[in-house]
Amino acid sequence: MMNQYNFDLVIDRTKSDCAKWSADSLNSYFGKEDLLPLWVADMDFEVAPAIKRAVVQRAEHGIYGYSTRPHAYYEAAINWIRRRFGYRVEEEWIVYSPGVVPAICNLLQALCRKGDKVLIQEPVYYPFKAAIESNGFEVVVSELKNNGQFYEMDFEDFAEKARDPRVGVFILCNPHNPVSRLWTRGELERIGSICLENNVVVISDEIHSDLIYPGWQHTMFASISDAFAMNSATCMSPSKTFNLAGMQASNIIIPNGRIRDKYLAVQLQNNTELQNPFSIVASIAAYNEGEAWLEELLNYLVGNIAYIHQYLSDNLPLAHMIDPQATYLGWIDFRAYEADGKALENVIYHKAKVAMDGGTWFGRGGSGFMRINFACPRETLKMGLDRIAKTIHETYGSPPQSNPCNPAPAE
Ligand SMILES: Cc1ncc(COP(=O)(O)O)c(C=O)c1O
Repeated sequence: MMNQYNFDLVIDRTKSDCAKWSADSLNSYFGKEDLLPLWVADMDFEVAPAIKRAVVQRAEHGIYGYSTRPHAYYEAAINWIRRRFGYRVEEEWIVYSPGVVPAICNLLQALCRKGDKVLIQEPVYYPFKAAIESNGFEVVVSELKNNGQFYEMDFEDFAEKARDPRVGVFILCNPHNPVSRLWTRGELERIGSICLENNVVVISDEIHSDLIYPGWQHTMFASISDAFAMNSATCMSPSKTFNLAGMQASNIIIPNGRIRDKYLAVQLQNNTELQNPFSIVASIAAYNEGEAWLEELLNYLVGNIAYIHQYLSDNLPLAHMIDPQATYLGWIDFRAYEADGKALENVIYHKAKVAMDGGTWFGRGGSGFMRINFACPRETLKMGLDRIAKTIHETYGSPPQSNPCNPAPAE
């Protein structure tokens, strides 16, 4: 089939106030500005033409006042969720949030009281921990287990921690960032049942749920049973899927009226209920007209995954990327070269001059790993990998030991 969209096109983002490429933000995170950015989770690809058309058309109107979601918005989102995940969402269940992280903050304020604890599964997207702590609650970690090929939940440990009566909320990351796992229906049933038994409400962050690779299927946590739906809030958005993160719009699906009312009360208190007009038309266009673009994007990303695997095997044979089931974020194990997480990050930032999210940022189990954002043209990806390979060879020479995930061939 002919490709319709050109994901190989390199677009200069440095003059577009882009957080990922801006000298100021690179400086503030890495202490350097001349890094190749393979970090922040947005894509270096232009959006689907239908989205660009909708935004330009809206801009032509010339008045950008306070806006409200029309019925067409809800219809587009509901149809998308039904088509892709087979789950029927009612319009009244969907509440707005400028982002998933702000929604998590609102939900924590709505559901937790002083002294409460919140469960997360590290290594995990670090703003979860930050959101819990900045809102005055305590983090409880159930660490994921790396079986050498992929990560698994530790159900016994999770159940023990969920039994603590001060644990009132669990933030589930599905698909999981950074370990690129798509939790199976069986795993979700098990974790959801433990939460129900212990009165732990589930915030299910499903922001990456459209970025799923061939052979895998995303199961919405709330779709498993009415009991799960009533014990959860699901965070979704077209932002990762269609590269609209800067538009700041997400859908929080809360079937339980009691939880929804609490959420809405916090939203009102914080005055965060108004959506910007461009994100409304962009989201409608994305949901209604973006599917072909998304399928082609996923094909391109599959190519990037194969490229990274091959590159590592040819050039850094002791490093290994966990094969992603979902997301455009790869979790690379460099422990055979450098097990000290901070030392590894220093080498990658200051010698290789590549910006990636350091494994230590993601909490327990992250040391010696780096998260690579491979949603970029292959040319950019190759440039980043070349810098890393050259630096690792210069710094470590022959690696000291074999990597348990990718053992060296027998002599
Ligand atoms: C798991 C996860 N949740 C939330 C977000 C951010 O969402 P938002 O920009 O809507 O706050 C990200 C971005 O990388 C993410 O990976």
